[in-house]
Amino acid sequence: MYQALYRKWRPKAFADVIGQEHITETLRRQVAEGRTSHAYLFTGTRGTGKTTCAKILAKAVNCEAPVDGDPCGKCPSCVGIDSGGFLDVLELDAASNNGVDQVRALRDEAVYSPANVKKRVYIVDEVHMLSTAAFNALLKILEEPPEHLMFILATTELHKVPATILSRCQRFSFRRIRPEDAARRLSYVAEQESIDLRPDGAELLSRLADGALRDGLSLLDQCAAAGGTIDAAAVLDVLGLAGNLQTAKLMELILARDAQGALLLLDELYKGGKDMGAVLSELSTLTRDLLLQKTAPKGGAALLSGGYDAAALDRLGKGVPAGRFLHLASTLQKASAELYASANRRLDAELCLLRLCDESLSGDLTALEARIARLEDNQAARAALAQRPGAAPPEQAPQPHKEPPAPPKFPDPPPWDEP
Ligand SMILES: Nc1ncnc2c1ncn2[C@@H]1O[C@H](COP(=O)(O)OP(=O)(O)OP(=O)(O)O)[C@@H](O)[C@H]1O
Ligand SMILES: [Mg+2]
Ligand SMILES: [Zn+2]
Repeated sequence: MYQALYRKWRPKAFADVIGQEHITETLRRQVAEGRTSHAYLFTGTRGTGKTTCAKILAKAVNCEAPVDGDPCGKCPSCVGIDSGGFLDVLELDAASNNGVDQVRALRDEAVYSPANVKKRVYIVDEVHMLSTAAFNALLKILEEPPEHLMFILATTELHKVPATILSRCQRFSFRRIRPEDAARRLSYVAEQESIDLRPDGAELLSRLADGALRDGLSLLDQCAAAGGTIDAAAVLDVLGLAGNLQTAKLMELILARDAQGALLLLDELYKGGKDMGAVLSELSTLTRDLLLQKTAPKGGAALLSGGYDAAALDRLGKGVPAGRFLHLASTLQKASAELYASANRRLDAELCLLRLCDESLSGDLTALEARIARLEDNQAARAALAQRPGAAPPEQAPQPHKEPPAPPKFPDPPPWDEP
């Protein structure tokens, strides 16, 4: 049977876990020196190695010949745990039931020493899903744990774990995997699997994974199933994404308030089979990049998504006030959220584009703000004109045109406004 890449390539030793050195080094040292704790809590976003490290730790503390704190993978204990045949290393999924019976059962069996291994290890995944009764039962064991017992709790939602539990565990926070680390791992897995993954493909996949390696491997799986060489273009094609170039082009039209051009480009993307949600989400990412590049240029590449180089961002964002990006970001967020329930995704995406091109169409406070900003800008432009050397006071200033000159930032109103 076909096994998903992310399951097949679950690291078997701490040394293979990437991007979590602050955790794996500590755990290895604890194992090597025999100073492990009786309770651990692994927190952090999905797909970053929590369950993986829990399994490795369970093996490492029971391994007969650990290597630098890593399990050897060959002794009867390592083999037994790997095959899932030992009842002494038990995985409980708190998400599948509220867990109280299971926790009570394991409290009853906790007094007996393990049959096959040194330490009985309970891995409780999604621990925040336990019911209050289950948490209380768990707390009882954690208060006075027998020597032969170890708990590894894992959660993506730390704030839902009661403080009484937290204070009895050693806590480790798993980080999002950095794109360059993820790309290296994806390339490695691809090589082992004889998948023709090109560097630009790996880079794009790792960015799309947004720090979760499981997602990266799943995406790779999806692309590999389509067959052939996987480069950036193939990834975009398989995943139905609009692609950075087209996203940047669309942003350029939006910033220029060229609604007609933006709608035409969206139509092109739609006909090409691109998903409307993906288009909006890519615009969101680009907006965030533009905003960061403008407000925190010193943050450098570390803060950015990596999809666009700094020069391109500078060029796109030139002369656009940060407030405009804030409006773009909030409009895109709202539209993306609503798109899920939409009966006509295309129409909603089009409406969103119109609002992005002209904030006065938003019909809420933003619209008012936009109008005030335009008025203020006009005012400022007029004042600047008046203060030119040799200019008369504003009242008598000779007007170059009948209309006050429009500031360059706000060119013509969008075409549909015209009579
Ligand atoms: N740090 C990592 N190094 C190498 N592979 C990783 C790492 N993190 C995740 N993976 C890959 O992703 C898969 C899933 O990881 P894991 O089950 O450990 O995630 P998790 O943090 O427990 O996620 P969840 O919160 O969704 O349970 C692994 O089988 C492995 O292939
Ligand atoms: Mg997990
Ligand atoms: Zn071993």
